[in-house]
Amino acid sequence: MAIKIFRDYERLSQEAADEIISLVKHKPRAVLCLATGDTPRLAYEILVEKANAEKVDFSAVTFIALDEWVGIPPDNAGSCFFFLHNNIFKPLGIQAEQTHLFDALSNDLPSECAKMDFVIHKKGGIDLILVGVGMNGHVGFNEPGVAAALKTHVAELDATTQLVGQKYFNQSTALKLGITLGLDHFMQSRKALMLASGKKKAEVMRLALEGPVTTAVPASIIRKHPDGTVMLDEDAASLLKA
Ligand code: F6R
Repeated sequence: MAIKIFRDYERLSQEAADEIISLVKHKPRAVLCLATGDTPRLAYEILVEKANAEKVDFSAVTFIALDEWVGIPPDNAGSCFFFLHNNIFKPLGIQAEQTHLFDALSNDLPSECAKMDFVIHKKGGIDLILVGVGMNGHVGFNEPGVAAALKTHVAELDATTQLVGQKYFNQSTALKLGITLGLDHFMQSRKALMLASGKKKAEVMRLALEGPVTTAVPASIIRKHPDGTVMLDEDAASLLKA
């Protein structure tokens, strides 16, 4: 695992965008799994701008969802679906056939999970997974204490996630369950990027990078990833010893 520290959020975002673009240039049929949330927002803005300016061909890329809030419809601005469509798919002209997202309204969530596992397998695995880190150390909706061997599953969201998650919604929203790729998918992805920005992430990143590798802090598992890179701005790195 490598740790890269950037002076600020802009530089970190630039580098994350460049990583995605260079992979797609090198492997036009790449399979990408990109987190939603505040952390990668600027990276995606830069990605779209650069990809369009440089005419990078995304037409053969496959996009796999990392997670979704169960019960939240796709037209809700707080859904991961809405985020991906508005920040990545629409501006890059990605076709529906290229995307594999969760139906969070399904009344058969186990089959949603199985479908996602099947798609990932059929596509030959994920080339690049980009994740953020929750205030409780979660990755996707792999909450503290999750079993590392899990693939796609439905997770009970812990109290921190239910509370922090409110920031994505226009009104107070019940967030009890999430559907998510598992840590097994994260570890099997050929390349993993983990982004964290801001002072508020400093403590959890200290735990993830300097505490024990444990699913009590799911983000710590990146230390065992053969091609994992943690990208931090100086604020998020401010409590690291090294
Ligand atoms: C979102 C996701 C979450 C977020 C994490 C950090 O798809 O998987 O795990 O990455 O909660 O969220 P932000 O970036 O908003 O601090």
